[in-house]
Amino acid sequence: MASTPKAADVPQGYFAEDVSDEVVLARMAESMDPRLRHVMTAVVKHLHALVKEVEPTQQEWEQAISFLTETGHMCNEWRQEFILLSDILGVSMLVDAINNRKPSGATETTVLGPFHVSGAPRYPNGANICLDGKGEPLLVTGRVTNTDGQPIANALLDVWQANDEGFYDVQQKGVQPDMNLRGLFTTDADGRFWFRSVKPRFYAIPDDGPVGQLLGQLGRHPYRPAHIHFIVGADGYEPITTHLFTPDCPYLTSDAVFGVKETLIADFRPVDDPERATELGFTNPFVTVNWDFALARR
Ligand code: BEZ
Ligand code: FE
Repeated sequence: MASTPKAADVPQGYFAEDVSDEVVLARMAESMDPRLRHVMTAVVKHLHALVKEVEPTQQEWEQAISFLTETGHMCNEWRQEFILLSDILGVSMLVDAINNRKPSGATETTVLGPFHVSGAPRYPNGANICLDGKGEPLLVTGRVTNTDGQPIANALLDVWQANDEGFYDVQQKGVQPDMNLRGLFTTDADGRFWFRSVKPRFYAIPDDGPVGQLLGQLGRHPYRPAHIHFIVGADGYEPITTHLFTPDCPYLTSDAVFGVKETLIADFRPVDDPERATELGFTNPFVTVNWDFALARR
């Protein structure tokens, strides 16, 4: 744990530029929660070091405060601009990496994102989660296994994705049906799951707020490569929050939120098979992807 100065080490407790962080840290009570002390010590030290490095003008400091104020004002039930800020700075992926150091063999994780909705409909395997029939038909098949490749029965998959225009249902209320392209599936006795959907498209993260403006000023685009989100869990196993990425997306190597891992790029295959398309209730041609998720024991 970082050592913090005692009030007695700071002459009279008056503020001075050269000991600015120490003056602030010395005010923390001896009795405070140790984890909070550790966190706040790091926050104060790094924040003071940053300000000393940047030496902002008074006007630049005011701009920074306005940016944070606007970021707060942008937040509502569906919009979390602070998470978006964390995402574009790579902080969300760093927290995810720190908290998911798995034994090798477990499927890698990535960001949750702001578009997960709890209470998605529970479907039998084979169901079609595309409720408006729009998009290029996609068959998703696979298994959930442990890290030794043994199937896990009764694993739960929570799936959600954007449509082929790059929007989630919650972004197009009244345009897409509620709960479009979302569903919960359970693996069978052999650990298998399968469902029908449409091929997702790349999309821009919400960029009409201060975070979007910052991205523009940084010379960065707001796009995420096409993907399907999954939360996969089973009794006795660590749940994973992850994505499957399509291999042909132009934004794979420049994801606005740094969420791509090479191991999560799947083989989305075009299929030209009129008979199989009819069996599936698809137009021909269609797309398939087969993917196995591996979970680590708790
Ligand atoms: C998403 O994949 O849904 C997402 C992740 C981070 C920011 C915005 C969207
Ligand atoms: Fe997404």
